Amino acid sequence: MPRSRDGLCAAGEWHQLKPLFPPLQEKTVLDLGCGYGWHCSYAVEQGVVQVLGIDLSSKMIEEAKRRNAQRQIEYRVCGIEEYTYPKNRWDLVVSNLALHYIENIDLIFKKCTKR
Ligand SMILES: C[S@@+](CC[C@H](N)C(=O)[O-])C[C@H]1O[C@@H](n2cnc3c(N)ncnc32)[C@H](O)[C@@H]1O
Repeated sequence: MPRSRDGLCAAGEWHQLKPLFPPLQEKTVLDLGCGYGWHCSYAVEQGVVQVLGIDLSSKMIEEAKRRNAQRQIEYRVCGIEEYTYPKNRWDLVVSNLALHYIENIDLIFKKCTKR
C-alpha cells in the first residue's frame, strides 16, 4: 500500500487527523497500535521528548524500528488491552485505525483519561 511505503503523506485520513494534534513541543506521547510508527515519527518532528509506540504485532514493531527509529521513540510489542496506562504518564494518547479492533473500547478510554 502507498502508506506503507510513503508514510502519512500517502494516508487518506491524515489531512483530517493532523489538525487535531495539539502543540507537541516538550510533550510525551503514547501511540496505541502504532504500526510502522509514522505517528511516532511525526510527534518527534513536532518536538516531543518521548514517544512510546505499542503494537500487538512483533512484525509491525520490527518494521517500525527499521523505518522510524528516532532516539525519542521506544517501541514495544504490547496489546492495547494489556498496557498498564500509568497515571499522569502521557500528555497525549494517539491511536489511528487501531481502536476498532478493541472489544471494550470504553475501558481503554477510561484508562487513558484516569488521573
Ligand atoms: C491499520 S494498522 C494502523 C497502524 C498505525 N496506527 C497507522 O495509522 O499507520 C492497525 C494496527 O493496529 C495493531 N493492532 C490491532 N489490534 C491491536 C491490539 N489489540 N493491541 C495493539 N495493537 C493492535 C495492528 O497490529 C496494526 O499494526
